[in-house]
Amino acid sequence: MRDYNDIMIALDFPGGEEALNFLDRMEIKGEKPFVKVGMELFYACGPDIIREIKARGYRIFLDLKLHDIPNTVGSAMRVLAGLGVDMVNVHAAGGRKMMEAARKGLDEGWVQAGAPGKKPYLIAVTMLTSIDKDTMNGQLLIPGEVEETVVSYARNAREAGLDGVVCSPMEAGTIHRSVGEDFLTVTPGIRLPGDSKGDQKRVTTPGDARKGGSDFMVIGRSITRAEDPSSAYERCLR
Ligand code: C5P
Repeated sequence: MRDYNDIMIALDFPGGEEALNFLDRMEIKGEKPFVKVGMELFYACGPDIIREIKARGYRIFLDLKLHDIPNTVGSAMRVLAGLGVDMVNVHAAGGRKMMEAARKGLDEGWVQAGAPGKKPYLIAVTMLTSIDKDTMNGQLLIPGEVEETVVSYARNAREAGLDGVVCSPMEAGTIHRSVGEDFLTVTPGIRLPGDSKGDQKRVTTPGDARKGGSDFMVIGRSITRAEDPSSAYERCLR
C-alpha cells in the first residue's frame, strides 16, 4: 500500500504571488498532493514560500539538485530538513560520498527539527534528460549509452542510502528491474492526451507512465496552464 499520492504538481512560477494564487484556485478532494518547488520559485522567494505552501497543507518536493563537495552538501541538507520539506534531491554525478553526506545531513537535520512527520525522501537526478548520447559521450566524456549511465548512477544512489531517482518514465521499468522494485522513480515529461508538448521532447501520458512503473509523476503545464487546473489534476489521477 502506497503511503503517498503519486502526482507532483510542478509550481514553475516566477514568484510567490503567482504560485499561491494558483494553489488558492485548486480544489483538491482528500489528501493534498505533493507540489514541486524548483530553483526559480525558491530563489525568488526563499524559505518563506515553503512555509506558506506547507501552511496550505501541501507536501513539498524541493527540487534544488544539490551538487558540491560532501561536507557542503551534508550541511545544506541539514538546513533544508529544518524547513520541513518532504522530498529533496542531489545530482548523482556528485558521487557516492556526496550522496552519503546528503543522507546523513538530511536525517540529522530532520531529527534536530523534532522529527516532524515522515522522514523526507532523498532522491538523485541521474542524467538530465537534456543530455543526449552525443553530449554525454563527446562533452562529458562518459562512454556508452545514456541508459547504462542512468542505471549505474541509480545503483550508486541506492548504495548511498537514497530512496530513489528522477528519471524519464521510459527508464522507470529498467531502474526498478535493475535496482529494486521499492526504489522510487520520480518522472517528469508527462502530458494529458491532446496537450502541447512545450519544450519536452519525449512525453508520456499519466496512464502510460503508471504502466511503465513510474511511482511519482511530476506534472507541470498540463495542470498549471489548464483552464480548470482542478479538473486537469483529477483527469491525471484517473
Ligand atoms: O510543465 P512540465 O510538465 O513539462 O514540467 C516538468 C517539470 O519537471 C519542470 O519543473 C521541469 O523543470 C522538471 N524536470 C523535467 N525534466 C527533468 C528534470 C526535471 O522536466 N529531467
